[in-house]
Amino acid sequence: MKDSGDHRSGLLPALGPVQLVLLGVGCIIGAGIFVITGSAAADYAGPAVSLSFLLAAFACACAGLCYSELAATSKESGGAYSYTRDALGPRIGWLVGWNLIMEYLVAASFVAVGWSGYLSALCDSVGLSLPKAFTSAPFKLTNGHLEATGAIINLPAALIIGLATLCAVIGVKRSSAANMVVVLIKVTVILVVIAVGAFHVNPALWTPFIPENTGTFGQYGISGVMKAAGVVFIAYIGFDAVATTALEARKPQRDVPIGILGSLAVCTVLYIAMSLVLTGTVPYTQLSVPSPVALAVANMGEGVSWILPLVSLGAIAGLTSVILVLLVAQPRVFFAMAQHRILPSLFAKVHPTYRTPHISTIITGAIAAALAALFPIDFLAELVSSGTLLAFMMVSVSVIVLRRTRPDAPRPFRVPLVPLIPIVSILVCGYLISVLGEHAYLRLGIWLAIGLVIYELRKKHAVAAGIA
Ligand code: ALA
Repeated sequence: MKDSGDHRSGLLPALGPVQLVLLGVGCIIGAGIFVITGSAAADYAGPAVSLSFLLAAFACACAGLCYSELAATSKESGGAYSYTRDALGPRIGWLVGWNLIMEYLVAASFVAVGWSGYLSALCDSVGLSLPKAFTSAPFKLTNGHLEATGAIINLPAALIIGLATLCAVIGVKRSSAANMVVVLIKVTVILVVIAVGAFHVNPALWTPFIPENTGTFGQYGISGVMKAAGVVFIAYIGFDAVATTALEARKPQRDVPIGILGSLAVCTVLYIAMSLVLTGTVPYTQLSVPSPVALAVANMGEGVSWILPLVSLGAIAGLTSVILVLLVAQPRVFFAMAQHRILPSLFAKVHPTYRTPHISTIITGAIAAALAALFPIDFLAELVSSGTLLAFMMVSVSVIVLRRTRPDAPRPFRVPLVPLIPIVSILVCGYLISVLGEHAYLRLGIWLAIGLVIYELRKKHAVAAGIA
């Protein structure tokens, strides 16, 4: 790789295509496939949720290529926040960074709620039932609104975030060997369920494959398949981790797209096969449960019940690692924002011994734990999907803008067919936001408005203090 002369040029270009695909798979597979597949099938798409996975993968592939070009060109470590700030100015950059809170912080809560569901399933499978009042959210999402459930708190979800925060503060990082083990566990669990499930599916449950629309947009039919694509989009989040390693790839132009497209392809195949097994072993209307994969295995009969604890254990191990990745990523974005003085300098403080941004990590963990303790997984998934889709749209816009404003910047990786691929990415991501429904964009709009107010206040403060 050519040394582009930036601050990361000291990085060793040691990653080949196989490592990049494994890195991607390790970051991607989480509560999306283990939990959201069930509710997306039950509420929106029926067995055709497998087609929704295909559409979401297409959106991610286009956005992922754009992400890679910017990651390879950028000199900073704030991910999409830094890229869009470079291309579109500080205000838009901040708003994208503000949305990344959905991608990392809220996603950590989302995965933690999934983790809690599989912990309960594991305890159930060994005859130890945890009290529902303390293992589920006090709110549920009904027709876009939150309603009380009677439960008190999702305690395991909050506790696992607390534990992961502690690991992030003391600097526990996943080595590539640890990543390999986690990928192996997750993929093995999924493959075992698919292999065993293949002998237990009842093809009658796949008919009708696309259930008839109820008359409401998004409730089955083609619109349901589209809406489910917006919801299951979250299952692919994490592939951007591959893009950010562009300068550590041996041959970025070849290996980064292989890493992104390869990990997306592996996950797409696994997701489609898994969703066919789930909808082929459990009537899709019954799949909206905290641990649908465990339910499917339980439905496969007494003969295979021995794999039930293993599946839950594998899911728990796999989800733990995703929570850690997300809780390490979020403070890095806060860190970059604090360096630009949009956030108080507190967020850029580094622990003298552990050399981690401990204060922003603890703030991230505390908020993520509160969200995980209170909110249901489908609500969190919708927030993550809408915020991330918007961030990906802006990343795609940035590629087009930077090709014009900085045509000569070194680009170790270039998106092919510009502006076609970025435009397709913008349109598909925009469409997936639009199908999430009015409640989703109302929440996204409120979130952006809060972000804008904070930005303007900080700017005013900076001008008054003479540091803008
Ligand atoms: N892709 C990650 C998951 O599905 C966020 O949990």
